[in-house]
Amino acid sequence: MRLLIEANNIVIKRLSALDSTAVCASVAQYFSPRKNIAMAINAPLHETIEVDQYRARVGLCQGLSLGAFETTSGRMIAFYINRIETGGKTNGSAVTSDTDYFKEKYEWVGPISRLSEHAKENIFRDTGVEKPFEIDFGAVDPKYSKHGISTTLSIMSEDVAKENGCDSIASFVTSSYTLGSLKKLGYSIASRFDLSYYVDRKTGLRPFVNATPPHNIVGSLYKLL
Ligand SMILES: CC(C)(COP(=O)(O)OP(=O)(O)OC[C@H]1O[C@@H](n2cnc3c(N)ncnc32)[C@H](O)[C@@H]1OP(=O)(O)O)[C@@H](O)C(=O)NCCC(=O)NCCS
Repeated sequence: MRLLIEANNIVIKRLSALDSTAVCASVAQYFSPRKNIAMAINAPLHETIEVDQYRARVGLCQGLSLGAFETTSGRMIAFYINRIETGGKTNGSAVTSDTDYFKEKYEWVGPISRLSEHAKENIFRDTGVEKPFEIDFGAVDPKYSKHGISTTLSIMSEDVAKENGCDSIASFVTSSYTLGSLKKLGYSIASRFDLSYYVDRKTGLRPFVNATPPHNIVGSLYKLL
């Protein structure tokens, strides 16, 4: 199922590991530089790009991710990295052990990982969820901002989740735009933080006090399918 929709000169396609070069370029251009959480703790851009591109490559291997392309030029203008977790938990994947590697390598990864783990804690409590699908991260070329591309990719990710027998879809979002958009799509908010007040459990510090809107609002959302 390569071609999913075609409208308004934009085509949405399922991505595979073969799209790695284009996705990694988009990550470096549209995701890492605007992820103000990393900016807030002064993580060097080349390091955040390295970690984000790694996460993208791992996600792509599952063949569940989506990309939006200009039909005329074939240029990638947006991507959503999706994956299926194991064991009904959002931290049970191969990415976890690799996160440990990056935690050792870069000091700034620890606080971000703990924030993500904290936000995902108990996300599926009392829901009976067995096979969750995760929208890991995504970005849209600012030139195409507010054209509904992210919303479209969210809706189409639900279809991919259902096709793969998942009983739920979840995401840890790092933007109030995405949080609001998923809420409109019927997601429940499991956790929501204003990063200015967030205290790192391990250090007792407030590592993201300088995060700026829309990336000062983060949280976990889920929807049962
Ligand atoms: C967040 C992001 C993915 C939104 O992509 P998009 O294609 O512009 O989003 P959509 O057009 O589908 O809009 C989704 C919602 O966000 C709002 N939004 C998006 N960009 C906005 C902007 N610049 N200002 C105000 N609202 C904005 C839209 O109004 C819409 O809200 P609505 O449903 O109430 O109308 C995109 O801005 C981006 O790539 N940001 C940088 C990386 C990032 O933050 N990724 C997500 C981390 S979880």
